[in-house]
Amino acid sequence: MNALLQSAEASLYLPVRARIAEVRPLTRLEKLYRIELPDGMSLQHQPGQFVEVSVLGVGEAPISISSSPSRSNGTFELCVRRAGDVTSALHGLGPGDSIGLRGPLGHGFPIQRFHGKDLLFAPGGLGLAPLRSLIQQVLDDRRNFGKVTILYGARHPSELLFTEELQAWSELPDVEVHMTVDRPDEEWKGNVGVITTLFSKVSLYARNTVAVTVGPPVMYRFVLMELLGKGIPEANIWLSLERRMKCGVGKCGHCQMHHLYACLDGPAFCYAQIKHLEEAL
Ligand SMILES: Cc1cc2nc3c(=O)[nH]c(=O)nc-3n(C[C@H](O)[C@H](O)[C@H](O)COP(=O)(O)OP(=O)(O)OC[C@H]3O[C@@H](n4cnc5c(N)ncnc54)[C@H](O)[C@@H]3O)c2cc1C
Ligand code: FES
Repeated sequence: MNALLQSAEASLYLPVRARIAEVRPLTRLEKLYRIELPDGMSLQHQPGQFVEVSVLGVGEAPISISSSPSRSNGTFELCVRRAGDVTSALHGLGPGDSIGLRGPLGHGFPIQRFHGKDLLFAPGGLGLAPLRSLIQQVLDDRRNFGKVTILYGARHPSELLFTEELQAWSELPDVEVHMTVDRPDEEWKGNVGVITTLFSKVSLYARNTVAVTVGPPVMYRFVLMELLGKGIPEANIWLSLERRMKCGVGKCGHCQMHHLYACLDGPAFCYAQIKHLEEAL
């Protein structure tokens, strides 16, 4: 089977045509797409990598791969928030429609380095989309990892993604899930406050914990302070830096942070690698 990247290597800029197999609305702004590649092709991605998705006549946007390689079965999933031209055009497409794809691109999370560790996932809002790929992969290979803790925050209950999956994860042995919202509605019975208010609910064996956070900078800056304060080693803290991108392959410079390109060297970075970069934090 050809990896999609192999065909893209012929021209880094030439998209492969793929088919939307299924679309599922998740919230007012986000939809989950199951994408089918042409016969004989597979994505072969690492959790944390992204694809450049194109809609003919509109443009291209980087979107994280939201499903895990362990569940690929010839298809993969993208969770798309309607934000501007490309994502709005995507929201207008349905099953059977075609899109263009380049990728998988960038560096994902080095999951083998997480073997034997307890894992703490701290996504904010849409940050759960890329982390879902990693969480699914970990849960499908459970014996290689210790305790799994997921702390998830969103602004409002209606903005929480993958709520049924979060519920199912919370019922698994040795998996702890805590959620919070900034603004509750009348039905919300959970925690209220920013994501860092959830840290007091969990106990961590800091030296053996790998923490992964994905979300807007205003959120991950505070999460990083919390993780460092708990004594999690800098080399065990990972984040995804989703900077504005164009080419996605290290050519245009749009995503440059000092000597690093978010598209090429990331988007997954170890905190120890980027802690001195003003542009990153
Ligand atoms: C590595 C990576 C992974 C991503 N994964 C996902 C994903 O899984 N799901 C998803 O819905 N979106 C994801 N995004 C964000 C998505 O790429 C942007 O929202 C996208 O560019 C919107 O394209 P558009 O043409 O619809 O909007 P545009 O018309 O280009 O812009 C819409 C608005 O979003 C702003 N914008 C564009 N890119 C970014 C960015 N990276 N950060 C903040 N603001 C931005 C623009 O300035 C504008 O205000 C990811 C971005 C990156 C870099
Ligand atoms: S997006 Fe072009 S160099 Fe990163």
